[in-house]
Amino acid sequence: MTNPQGRLVGRVALISGGANGAGAASARLFARESAKVSIVDRDAEAGHKLEQELNAQGFSAFFVCADVSKADKAEFAVKATIEKFGCIDILFNHAGIIIVKPFLEFSIEEWDEMMENNAKSAFLMTRLVLPEMLKRGYGVGHGLIFGRPFFNMK
Ligand SMILES: NC(=O)c1ccc[n+]([C@@H]2O[C@H](COP(=O)([O-])OP(=O)(O)OC[C@H]3O[C@@H](n4cnc5c(N)ncnc54)[C@H](O)[C@@H]3O)[C@@H](O)[C@H]2O)c1
Repeated sequence: MTNPQGRLVGRVALISGGANGAGAASARLFARESAKVSIVDRDAEAGHKLEQELNAQGFSAFFVCADVSKADKAEFAVKATIEKFGCIDILFNHAGIIIVKPFLEFSIEEWDEMMENNAKSAFLMTRLVLPEMLKRGYGVGHGLIFGRPFFNMK
């Protein structure tokens, strides 16, 4: 049930990679704080499951299946979220992968895969979302690779 005292009443949060891990934990937390939550992830099964879980609890959740390392898919996810909820107030660039191995064993393909999913995805999503936030003068952007909010306009 939406909490009228929640710290994010009336806010819309888009969480890339929101279907699992820290992204899913954030989706649950933001929903409890009364945000409308757009879960954007390429894991369709986990995304739909979390969307159903949150909506069944009376929260507002929306799942968009998209690979945010691809420019057209990232754009689709942002447009679908705005169509559903009207705007995006909070962007959490959480989508990412990790490959753990000694530096000299990394292939160029693995390096590219990490950069595509962790860095390029954040770049693509931020450049899609930030212009509207700047126009409205409100927005929060956060990403795991940044560690703390990389923009915060009140
Ligand atoms: N878990 C940690 O302790 C930790 C610490 C520091 C950094 N990180 C980094 O944070 C990121 C997330 O960590 P996690 O443990 O929550 O991972 P996770 O694997 O549990 O969740 C990542 C989610 O992102 C999604 N995803 C990945 N690439 C995507 C893409 N291109 N498009 C759409 N969805 C995509 C996955 O499907 C998954 O649902 C990773 O990059 C990880 O390396 C994690």
